[in-house]
Amino acid sequence: MSPFKNELIQEIVTRYEEDIGMLIPMMQDLQAECGYLPAEQLRTLARQIHIPLTRIYGIATFYSSFRLAPKGQHEVTLCMGTVCYLKGAGRISEAICEEYHIDPGGTTSDRLFTLQAVNCVGACALAPVMIVDGKYHDGVTSDSALEIISTLSADEAAGKEDKG
Ligand code: FES
Repeated sequence: MSPFKNELIQEIVTRYEEDIGMLIPMMQDLQAECGYLPAEQLRTLARQIHIPLTRIYGIATFYSSFRLAPKGQHEVTLCMGTVCYLKGAGRISEAICEEYHIDPGGTTSDRLFTLQAVNCVGACALAPVMIVDGKYHDGVTSDSALEIISTLSADEAAGKEDKG
């Protein structure tokens, strides 16, 4: 059963007066409520405004701001802008994906972190740049990126122990 309230879609659709032209804002509101776009809620949305579900998925997969799965506890963001890419961001992304068995944009099976790619974050002099929970790491390599992420895992485990 969905953890989200049944009336959620009805509320959102009513908010936009069932205007199909407002589909994207409806999806943004849904994501703001749920943290992602749950499949069950998308099905309900498609039914309520009488459009094919495939159209909603088309939008959800076109815009990188939409996510179809819940986020991990931590956000690992790799800059894939031109300078970072030329300095090895692609290889770093591959190394992380291989190590943690995820795809770019994906979340680890234990939901520890979500790997996101962004375009230039305005720190090209520090390329390649990786941002973990808002903290910038500059000049990262595949090895240092994996090391930073493994520290994140260790921190998380320590935090759980602390909570007892
Ligand atoms: S390309 Fe990565 S910070 Fe500019």
